[in-house]
Amino acid sequence: MTAIVEFDPIGAESIKGALGPDSAVLPGLDALYSHLDVNVFEDCVVLGPSVDQQDVFALAEDMRLRRPSLGVVMVRRRIDTAILSDALRAGVREVVQERDLAGLATAVRRQREIAARLREQVERPEGSEPVTKGGRVITVFSAKGGCGKTTLATNVAAALADAGKGSVALLDLDLSFGDVAIALQLFPSHTIADAVPIGEDLDGPALLSLLTSHRSGLQALVAPMEPSLADSIDNALVVRVIDLLKDEFDYVIIDTPPALDDNVLAAFDRSDVVALLATLDIPALKNLKLTLETLELIGFPRDRLKIVLNRSDSKVGLALSEVEKTLKTAIVAQIPSSRDVPASTNRGVAIVSDEPRNPVSLAIRKFIDEYVVAAGDDAIPAQMRTDRRTPRRWRR
Ligand SMILES: Nc1ncnc2c1ncn2[C@@H]1O[C@H](COP(=O)(O)OP(=O)(O)O)[C@@H](O)[C@H]1O
Ligand SMILES: [Mg+2]
Repeated sequence: MTAIVEFDPIGAESIKGALGPDSAVLPGLDALYSHLDVNVFEDCVVLGPSVDQQDVFALAEDMRLRRPSLGVVMVRRRIDTAILSDALRAGVREVVQERDLAGLATAVRRQREIAARLREQVERPEGSEPVTKGGRVITVFSAKGGCGKTTLATNVAAALADAGKGSVALLDLDLSFGDVAIALQLFPSHTIADAVPIGEDLDGPALLSLLTSHRSGLQALVAPMEPSLADSIDNALVVRVIDLLKDEFDYVIIDTPPALDDNVLAAFDRSDVVALLATLDIPALKNLKLTLETLELIGFPRDRLKIVLNRSDSKVGLALSEVEKTLKTAIVAQIPSSRDVPASTNRGVAIVSDEPRNPVSLAIRKFIDEYVVAAGDDAIPAQMRTDRRTPRRWRR
């Protein structure tokens, strides 16, 4: 449907006439905001000439972040280049002249098409079904190395597997220097590089044969043993691997390299949650801010980004509130610093499994309960647990 706001009844009727039965006139902007809150799949809104221009701009600016797929169309009595450029800067997608009703119908049709495509690709309003069918995908990223990506990714995967929350796959996308295998003391007989010769024939069963089991029950697809093999793995293969893992597992946790490359962006596109890691040092925060700005530019839905502060108790003179102000984003989770983390990494165990009461383990579990586990999926009967550790295909 397309929602229309126009205070002049005759103008409202003519807009509705141009857009047909799949449109409705709402009494004002408050009604429009409520309508958008309830109708999470509304694709397009039309603001008539009587709606204050600044109100239209404010709506467009607000929606650009909250609902990047929503097309805001503005109808004006007179159009000049100043209005056009201000409107586009605010995020209004189209400005149409009042009498150009055919142009308005075309603009709305175009916006609805774009919205449908964008929504398919990326948007998943919180609490609803995922974009595509299959398991939940959680990607852990930071543009700087050493922030704790591998620590968080391996521990989230191990904690989910330990808790019997479902079948869990862990994918190491740090193709050159991935250390998931070392962090979990795995002895893989295959790596993602073994998918290369399989090429087009790579399907679910073939992929499952490349995974390495960890004692928690999680299944890992580890990075190549030699950094030089990373070049043989192209983006199409990475995309295929993620999609197949999503088909086969309830949870797919993805560890990443410290760079926003094509593989990482493909992982983001398929993720329900992207955990962006930060530490309290200026280089890490600068990189995080740049990452946020880049993701905003490409219209990545903000509600899927969760900022996690690692070593949050470091006494380094940076206040949390200052950091949030700089990032213009809330920090949703804080993981304290602990010597037990490198100690467990060195022993090749996940701290969540080895020391479940450690404050680091508690913080990671809290993050999982609040942001990783699908809504309504927290009560799995104990007798189902072993069952849910098996990939879907193997379950009866
Ligand atoms: N909360 C923490 N407290 C103490 N040490 C940590 C913590 N998180 C990570 N580390 C240590 O920091 C180092 C880098 O972590 P890692 O997860 O490998 O980072 P990344 O994957 O981002 O490069 C590792 O030695 C790890 O044990
Ligand atoms: Mg790492």
